[in-house]
Amino acid sequence: MMDRLPDGYFDDVYADARDPWRLAERWYEQRKYAITMAMLPEARYRHAFEPGCSIGTVTERLVDRCDHVTAYDVAQSALDSTRERVGQRPNLTLERSSLDSDWPGADVDLVLISEVAYYLSGPTLRRVLDRECARLGAGATVVAAHWRHPVADYPLSGDQANALIGATRELNAVAGYRDDDVVIDVWQKGATESVAVRTGVPGAVG
Ligand SMILES: C[S@@+](CC[C@H](N)C(=O)[O-])C[C@H]1O[C@@H](n2cnc3c(N)ncnc32)[C@H](O)[C@@H]1O
Repeated sequence: MMDRLPDGYFDDVYADARDPWRLAERWYEQRKYAITMAMLPEARYRHAFEPGCSIGTVTERLVDRCDHVTAYDVAQSALDSTRERVGQRPNLTLERSSLDSDWPGADVDLVLISEVAYYLSGPTLRRVLDRECARLGAGATVVAAHWRHPVADYPLSGDQANALIGATRELNAVAGYRDDDVVIDVWQKGATESVAVRTGVPGAVG
């Protein structure tokens, strides 16, 4: 079994179109981004890691909410489009790298895995989560959003990808959203406290 869809698969996809999934136009995507960003439990993050940034439609949202963003993609065309979309922001690092490579530094407090984990095989995704989530600091947020309809080429379904991430030993479920199209889950590493409890909203019971 291959570890992940080959990088050449995505080079071919981008050779045909600059925005192959029409991420910048489709209402499905705009709505998914709005739900995902609204589900993040912290108002701001120190360092977000975004694997599979494609043309930067999530990245442009993250750079306004995070002190630093490190985004990976296996396709150079995607990284070039992200740079063009976001511009020369000093708080953005782009790397041609894969989700199953080493994640950026231990100061990462947000990992946003949107429509990318299902390109890995189950054993590879399990291995990278066990290795890298162990390196995250206490309280780090992990969020995963995946398309739920079947795609013949992908090693995992969206539901399988989110279930595998949710089975990671250190991660505790914080929030979930599911409809016929998309599954979005949020976890935190270690003990969790609700937003209202943590920010002292009167009446919130921890
Ligand atoms: C469907 S787009 C997702 C874009 C964005 N994250 C979103 O949710 O709108 C998938 C992107 O993941 C990239 N990709 C595929 N396999 C990857 C891997 N193993 N590691 C990092 N990026 C990968 C592809 O090149 C593509 O740009």
